[in-house]
Amino acid sequence: VSDGTHAAFDFEAMAPEARYRLLVSTVVPRPIAWVVTRSPETGVVNAAPYSFFNVMGDDPPVVAIGVLGRGGGYKDTSRNILEAGEFVVCLVPEELAPAMNQTCVDAPPGVSELELAGLSAAPSAKVAPPRIAESPVALECVRLHALELGPRQVCVIGRVVAMHIAKRVLTGDPARPRVDTPALRMVGRMHGSGTYARTGDLFDLTRPGPWTGQGAG
Ligand SMILES: Cc1cc2nc3c(=O)[nH]c(=O)nc-3n(C[C@H](O)[C@H](O)[C@H](O)COP(=O)(O)O)c2cc1C
Repeated sequence: VSDGTHAAFDFEAMAPEARYRLLVSTVVPRPIAWVVTRSPETGVVNAAPYSFFNVMGDDPPVVAIGVLGRGGGYKDTSRNILEAGEFVVCLVPEELAPAMNQTCVDAPPGVSELELAGLSAAPSAKVAPPRIAESPVALECVRLHALELGPRQVCVIGRVVAMHIAKRVLTGDPARPRVDTPALRMVGRMHGSGTYARTGDLFDLTRPGPWTGQGAG
């Protein structure tokens, strides 16, 4: 029920498009997984951006990606992951946002979006799909689960088996490196079909200490 300050929406009585609009207009910013897969039949390398994405744990190290259906069928990304069980998540800095955007074209399965966007592939260490050489961070993943949550709507859970990070953002002891996160200049997806956020506007908060029975202030 709506009250003086909040309008309530009954998601069980709404059309999918209306629910989608409310969700993606508010759950922001979303990191972008630039997912590379390989068709086991044709060997064609596929790349597409997915902003229903995040890290879900560290032991085992897992990521999750939400791949919607398309026209009653699977998108190439979910089909390849269901068939081959392997994928690489590359991350998207601002300078690669236009190329990332190009790879969301609805290309037929035989066409490699990497070539279309003028990107190059670099070999992965442990999985068959390559990483995008231009991206500063890549996570090699094997499928842990593929949950079909609705018709052709797949939530892919991947175990991260290897990671690549551009040396230019690594500092400190090589045995225990630190990442210069601001130098990555990652972008997030915002509301609407083409609005993105930069990650340069930062602020710090000190985490509360142990519970003392008092308010944090
Ligand atoms: C920034 C961005 C984020 C996107 N996020 C998603 C997403 O989370 N889930 C999804 O199903 N489609 C998402 N899309 C749309 C897919 O990228 C698009 O449907 C693409 O053609 C799928 O390619 P594929 O069939 O090669 O997997 C996104 C598009 C853009 C540009």
